[in-house]
Amino acid sequence: MNPLLRCKDITKRFGGIVALDGFGMTVQADAITGLIGPNGAGKTTLFNVVSGVLSPDSGSVIFDGDDLMGRATHELCHAGIARTFQTPHPIKSLTVEENLRVAEAFGSLETDGTDSRLERTLDVLDLTEKRSTVAENLQMTERKHVDLGRALLTDPDLVLLDELLAGLNPTDKATLIEHIQQLHREFDVDFLVVEHDLSAIREMCDDVVVMNEGTFMTAGSPSDVLNDERVQEAYIGT
Ligand SMILES: Nc1ncnc2c1ncn2[C@@H]1O[C@H](COP(=O)(O)OP(=O)(O)OP(=O)(O)O)[C@@H](O)[C@H]1O
Ligand SMILES: [Mg+2]
Repeated sequence: MNPLLRCKDITKRFGGIVALDGFGMTVQADAITGLIGPNGAGKTTLFNVVSGVLSPDSGSVIFDGDDLMGRATHELCHAGIARTFQTPHPIKSLTVEENLRVAEAFGSLETDGTDSRLERTLDVLDLTEKRSTVAENLQMTERKHVDLGRALLTDPDLVLLDELLAGLNPTDKATLIEHIQQLHREFDVDFLVVEHDLSAIREMCDDVVVMNEGTFMTAGSPSDVLNDERVQEAYIGT
């Protein structure tokens, strides 16, 4: 087993609310890992800590063997961590292609001058025909594809997806899951996926981590974790 990301004993308080309460987990390399838990469990807060948007009160994040605590967002991007947000936010005034080129410039990708990754990303995400469309004219599903493409163009090792599938109809959801799996295989990128749709988690993920009330609950294969009575209780209890 080869850990890509290790979170150790992370605590984050917002005033009197303890969003992360000594949370720890290990994310393996070469995997799509699900991160699940009821509303308010601390999933987005954890993503904000791992991507450098928030500083924790204590604890550490080890990525690919390096301690990342205290590094700025752009440094974490260069270290190989990219993310999407719960609400997709491409740069609305730019075209799809321009959005991807901005991400490429921001990231660490050493291009070979052929735009091959950009073209392949457009292709895998069904965006080739929309490349000249201004992002504010895109539908929600397409905006989500652009957000994912922007994350990919920074040349990450790990992409954090925060409820990217939320609000999509079953057909669009199935398509996006296929895209994620294809990008994982083709670009050798791992994903940590926050998602409330547990059947999507079962379909998409190799491993699952469960958190509740800011703490680690359990981790394992999707079938083991989703059949765990404590996990079912945590969900029914919300
Ligand atoms: N900026 C903030 N200020 C105050 N409280 C916050 C802030 N961000 C998060 N919280 C609180 O921290 C806790 C964890 O929130 P978080 O958004 O991380 O949960 P989540 O697991 O992502 O939930 P959801 O599934 O609803 O997206 C919640 O009680 C939330 O209200
Ligand atoms: Mg959230």
